[in-house]
Amino acid sequence: MEKYVIQGGNPLRGEVEISGAKNAAVAIIPAALMVRGVCRLENLPEISDTDTLLHILTYLGAKVNMINRTTVELDCTHVQMDILPEKMWELTRKIRASYYLIGAMLGRFGRARSTMPGGCNFGERPIDQHIKGLTALGADMDVNGGFIRAAAKGGRLKGTTVYLDKVSVGATINIMIAAATADGRTVIENVAREPHIVDLANFLNSMGADVRGAGTDVIKIRGVKQLHGGSYTLIPDQIEAGTYMAAVAAAGGTIRVSNVIPKHLECISSKLREMGVQVEEGDDYVLVRREGPLHRANLKTMPYPGFPTDMHPQMTAVLCCAPGVSVVTEGVWSNGRFKYVGELKKMGANIQVEDQSAFVQGVDHLTGATVKACDLRAGAAVVIAGLAASGVTKVEDISYIERGYQNLVGKFRALGADICCVDEPDLPDGQHSAGWIAG
Ligand code: EPZ
Repeated sequence: MEKYVIQGGNPLRGEVEISGAKNAAVAIIPAALMVRGVCRLENLPEISDTDTLLHILTYLGAKVNMINRTTVELDCTHVQMDILPEKMWELTRKIRASYYLIGAMLGRFGRARSTMPGGCNFGERPIDQHIKGLTALGADMDVNGGFIRAAAKGGRLKGTTVYLDKVSVGATINIMIAAATADGRTVIENVAREPHIVDLANFLNSMGADVRGAGTDVIKIRGVKQLHGGSYTLIPDQIEAGTYMAAVAAAGGTIRVSNVIPKHLECISSKLREMGVQVEEGDDYVLVRREGPLHRANLKTMPYPGFPTDMHPQMTAVLCCAPGVSVVTEGVWSNGRFKYVGELKKMGANIQVEDQSAFVQGVDHLTGATVKACDLRAGAAVVIAGLAASGVTKVEDISYIERGYQNLVGKFRALGADICCVDEPDLPDGQHSAGWIAG
């Protein structure tokens, strides 16, 4: 089984180039299903979620032409199928974003069927707001037996006004996609405002849609008959950038994080400064330096522009070695997404979880151990901890990490980290391979 092996203790130095935003890519690729013509997408992240969605589109009859590793030309003109065949169910069950195919197929064909989505398993992830929005657009929705079936009354969705009971990135995206070609005007209220919501709106508009207000809490869409081809370049991934910023905060050193939009990082930069990290903003980069001791801090995750929930595990890993008690509160996912805490505790972290908060008592140092990536960002957290720890850390279940981070090992090695990916048999819990070095 493939795992990362990290010899901790090296400060990070050099430059890391941030890739395209995962959560923009997994919305824009399904949305391309609605375009009759060639869609050229640039700055796509080279991650398994992108591959999975491109594979699904190929199976639906799209022409997928990889121009280079991060540029693809999609032609969905001749896609006829609106019911994902059984062969695809394994793929759609793997990723969260597969439910965007429902919004796209509804918008294009007036009907759709796919499996319930997969994605990071941090407890219950309801889709009632997706159902509410698509129903308001005139779709009959049936969620049963692990499948989602949808059919637009009269064959075409109709514009409407819908108020989301909960700020939901996924529901906002799904309704935007479906409403882009609905008959008439749609107003979606209490929407998510993340940068990838704005990126999707900009993509749709570059293909001939009429979407306004993305980035505010109300999005207005005038449905158009159909979308035409065009080119679009995705925004950089603010969570990938934040992950490298957190890594240098934990391991020490100085790095330049290039190809970012500093405004998207404001919350992360501000919190890191509070923790004693220097963050200097350029036009499309940030310089991050941590030389002295870390300071404790509290944070609570909120929908954008609040502190991003997808940086919660990574920041806890940094705070493990900040003197004093820091409190990390999860304000987005009701079940807290704290599975990563058990893995950090294997490395000597002193963390108590109560309700939605982790109380992190700073320790002198963490010690390398064999740990698991419980989900995508939990995996990033244990990598960060391993970079800062003394001794060797082995990270298992790295497929979660590879879903959302392009070339993580290569990028960290270029920053001077002692990290590699090995393929070795798993040992029963508690046993260590010969290479084990006690921390
Ligand atoms: C997206 O998930 C991201 N995934 C998540 O990132 C991210 O954590 C989340 O947004 C919040 O920013 C993708 O974009 C693929 P939500 P999503 O709908 O859309 C509740 C990562 O690490 N809710 O914004 O599933 C829900 O339970 C991943 O990249 C409902 O109650 O999140 C949660 O408490 C992990 N009903 C809150 O809203 C619904 O119908 C936010 O969920 C939908 C959501």
